Amino acid sequence: MHSGDALLDLSPVMPVVVVDDAADAVPVARALLDGGIGVIELTLRTPAALGAIERVAAEVPEIVIGAGTVTTAEQAKQAAAAGARFLVTPGCTDRLLDAAFDTGLPFLPGAGTVSEAMRLAERGLTALKFFPAEPSGGVAFLKAIAGPLPGLRFCPTGGITPESAPRYLALSTVGCVGGSWLTPGDALAAKDFSRITALAREASALA
Ligand code: 3PG
Repeated sequence: MHSGDALLDLSPVMPVVVVDDAADAVPVARALLDGGIGVIELTLRTPAALGAIERVAAEVPEIVIGAGTVTTAEQAKQAAAAGARFLVTPGCTDRLLDAAFDTGLPFLPGAGTVSEAMRLAERGLTALKFFPAEPSGGVAFLKAIAGPLPGLRFCPTGGITPESAPRYLALSTVGCVGGSWLTPGDALAAKDFSRITALAREASALA
């Protein structure tokens, strides 16, 4: 099953993580687990990302590690080879979709409009990343499309904060929200992993 429906139910918050140093990914994964978050979307935005996914897959198998910001067919293949257990994309092209299907991994494809969501549903994908959530209409958009597009569920991401997250999580079509606030850049730079655990604990209580 390629549709990432089960991914939406792993945690109320999908932590979106960017690391500059692959070595940081293991303590970050442990810090998130300590705070009650069992999933991590490690974004392919830095040269360190694939190495970071490899390390987490090998050293912290208890956390479900996925690759985020997958934008090319090549990246989909590389992420799968590195040990990612799921893929997340900000949007979709036909080539990227085909490559994501080829990995055999569950994935959350990004959609920001009704037509994008419909195209993905046509391919059997019923769990979508709603991105960028806040600029694309946020909670009001998701409420408006729940009637015409029944059967779709979302992980809204982009501009969501601990304060706005509960409004999204209250919608029956939202399984979890994505956010980078659990792993702030300054906490990573200072290797303040206990702060990440504290933020994860607050996020896991949003359920
Ligand atoms: C993503 O890649 O999913 C987003 O950039 C995360 O958005 P945020 O930083 O606003 O949480």
